[in-house]
Amino acid sequence: LSLPLEIVADGKIGLQCQIFDQVRSMILNGVLRSGELLPATRTLGEQLGVSRNTITLAYERLAAEGYVELRKSIGAVVAVQIPETGLFHSAKNEVRGQFRHELAIRHRGEPIENLRSQALINPHVRKLEADFWVGRPDPNSFPLKTWSKIVGRRLKNAGSALTEYRDSAGLPELRTAIADHLRPARGIAASADQIFIVGGCQDGLNLICRMMVRPGSDAVIETPCYQGAAYLFESYGAKLYPISVDEKGLMTSNLPDTKNAIAYVTPSHQYPLGVTLSLDRRLELIAWAERTNSYILEDDYDSDFRFSGAPLAALKGLDRVERVIYVGTFSKCMGAGLRLGYVVLPSRLVAKARHIKTLMNNGQPWLEQAALADFMTSGSYERHLRHIRKLYLGRRNALLFALEKHFGGSDVIGDKAGMHLVWRIPNQLPSAPEIEALALATGVGVYTIGSGGAVHFGTLSESDRLLVLGFSSLTEREIAIGISKLAAALGRTTKPRNTAKSGREK
Ligand SMILES: Cc1ncc(COP(=O)(O)O)c(C=O)c1O
Repeated sequence: LSLPLEIVADGKIGLQCQIFDQVRSMILNGVLRSGELLPATRTLGEQLGVSRNTITLAYERLAAEGYVELRKSIGAVVAVQIPETGLFHSAKNEVRGQFRHELAIRHRGEPIENLRSQALINPHVRKLEADFWVGRPDPNSFPLKTWSKIVGRRLKNAGSALTEYRDSAGLPELRTAIADHLRPARGIAASADQIFIVGGCQDGLNLICRMMVRPGSDAVIETPCYQGAAYLFESYGAKLYPISVDEKGLMTSNLPDTKNAIAYVTPSHQYPLGVTLSLDRRLELIAWAERTNSYILEDDYDSDFRFSGAPLAALKGLDRVERVIYVGTFSKCMGAGLRLGYVVLPSRLVAKARHIKTLMNNGQPWLEQAALADFMTSGSYERHLRHIRKLYLGRRNALLFALEKHFGGSDVIGDKAGMHLVWRIPNQLPSAPEIEALALATGVGVYTIGSGGAVHFGTLSESDRLLVLGFSSLTEREIAIGISKLAAALGRTTKPRNTAKSGREK
């Protein structure tokens, strides 16, 4: 057996890490299946022109993370149950302390050459007829005309703004505009002083990690979890405590007793499952943070889009003890290319954050901040939000309708908010990785939990019955065509059992 691995020896990414990542992807994509024997270390080493020891170390890491089993006198065999394939019910394994402890040890600080990351770049951009890639705003809805006018005006009157350094926490008028927006929209009463402008949520998470995560620090994360957060904590050497998510969000009864931890959550629309953290658990989480002297990192990435159910205030809006750090982004409501986001800090952390932000980059570029401030204060931002909310609601409904039409009785999760939903694949159809591959061959992009930017820690298996479907960047027509092509690829020309869902929430 040989493996189609491509190794680049330019010194940027360690060889062992490249081998680990590629074999892991092949396992998650179903290219390598449970029980399959990997090539012998010597054979693969010769094939790739790297030392046998490098292959051994990569295999050992795959084994430590549960992707393969190392069998004596046989070799490395793909595990029967791979880590990313357990959802919801893996909570059974979280017997207080035991499961967490095991994971915490496994995810102790990683040597730098073992870092993991997955870019959010759409792998098939513009190549597919219908691409249900996640978290992508509608490219045609970017308010280009207004934006160009504002940018032009700002440039004309720039004065010394382009040549001088500014407050590393961000442009005061943008921070004020965000504070004014957050009060009514998310129930957060923060002053502009507490708001720091960052280069998107990822940069905000980095700022917080720089402030409070050291090798061996405890980081509670959701499982499944947004890769951008889980891998980041891993890169800072944090001990990860993955806590399962059920239909009410993070299972707060399983929170560890550890002190001075950080807990990363996506309460509005859990990534990737899309569930909303219930009010009782929100309160429990805040009480836990207060009791354990920990901080909660609330990632509110797509909360501008809520289609049904009461509009819940942010977790930060409930925080009377200043234990929640709120991270917001303009990547979803405006565009990821802007690289603009913000962090709302408890007052006691502001001075420290300013030092770190100054050390990191002395602040974000001025022009985009200034343009966004004008866009927000002129009322254009609210108008833009109203427009895309309506658009995405129509698209979500079109997707629900198409799933119902072709796969009657469709079971979806997380469709009440956000820009994607999760489809539970009907029993008689193939697994998620198989469907992803089949769909791709017919020009349709649908994504497993792993390829959709999430990572699952645990051992039980349900995620290979789930697909993440982004709907915000496709027209209703493209959605209809995409799902009908998917159905044809799966041999479904069937009629619905029930089409009633199509007209939901107009
Ligand atoms: C859970 C989550 N947080 C944050 C982001 C956005 O990050 P950024 O603001 O760095 O673009 C995404 C994007 O997909 C996401 O899924």
